[in-house]
Amino acid sequence: MSRWTAKEKEAYRTEVVQRITEMMPSVMQEYGSIDWAEELKGYRTDHEYYPDYIHAPIHGVTDGYTNPQNCLAWDAAMDVIISKSHKVSCQQLREQMVELIPLDAEIHTVLELGAGTASGALALAHRFPQATFTVTDVSPYMLVISKHKFNKAGFGNRAKFEQVDARHTGYPDNSFDLVTASLLFHEVPKEWTPKILKEMCRITKPGGWVLYSDTYRGEYALNASFQEPWLSDFIQFNFEYEFAKAGFTELDYIRYAVGLWYMVGRKPE
Ligand SMILES: C[S@@+](CC[C@H](N)C(=O)[O-])C[C@H]1O[C@@H](n2cnc3c(N)ncnc32)[C@H](O)[C@@H]1O
Repeated sequence: MSRWTAKEKEAYRTEVVQRITEMMPSVMQEYGSIDWAEELKGYRTDHEYYPDYIHAPIHGVTDGYTNPQNCLAWDAAMDVIISKSHKVSCQQLREQMVELIPLDAEIHTVLELGAGTASGALALAHRFPQATFTVTDVSPYMLVISKHKFNKAGFGNRAKFEQVDARHTGYPDNSFDLVTASLLFHEVPKEWTPKILKEMCRITKPGGWVLYSDTYRGEYALNASFQEPWLSDFIQFNFEYEFAKAGFTELDYIRYAVGLWYMVGRKPE
């Protein structure tokens, strides 16, 4: 993969923003019925609640996850960026990911951390119809959108939506058959990544599974076109080592399309 020039990056950004803008009227229609004041009850929306780093200009947008407009644009942005940058659809990214967990795995309880709009959890909900879901994020706006999507899919009665910080979840040891996250660590300062992985392992049941996906690995990182404040932290990690150090075993690192990768593993019995 050749390194993009500044001009190519600018053209990429312009096209992405334009395509997202074109998609927004239908997004607003889809979510127009949400009563935000009602749905946000019980969640914290004050600046102090969030991890400090969330307030940084991620993708060039300050406080992107702490206001509803940007969260509403998330799925449109993912659709455009994943297909344009990685030549697979966002749906393919999610579907390929969940296929890494065998159909006969004993999956009854699933936790998604930093779930965003819960596209990962939804793909798992289709694959494991017996499972119940705890969908979590620090952003209450993401949780409201996730709930809307689960309800629309007819899975609302299988999920709860909790405002949880992945760095210290508060869940008891050995709680979930599967703990999953995606696109989280490239947006997290380096001191937290090993701690979140340890937390993931602590709350996974013995014999349970971990499933993760991210981007910006290898040469693809050179072509980051939107501001990623912790990309230089992220690319230094050897994730095979970090997942193992956190306590996971039977790890499989799978490179999927340019720059996209998955990790699947187990917690020892
Ligand atoms: C890049 S988005 C990824 C969203 C989703 N997982 C996906 O694959 O589309 C990162 C998400 O992680 C959340 N987040 C960041 N730090 C977090 C933390 N410490 N605990 C929980 N969520 C966090 C953000 O609010 C945001 O929704």
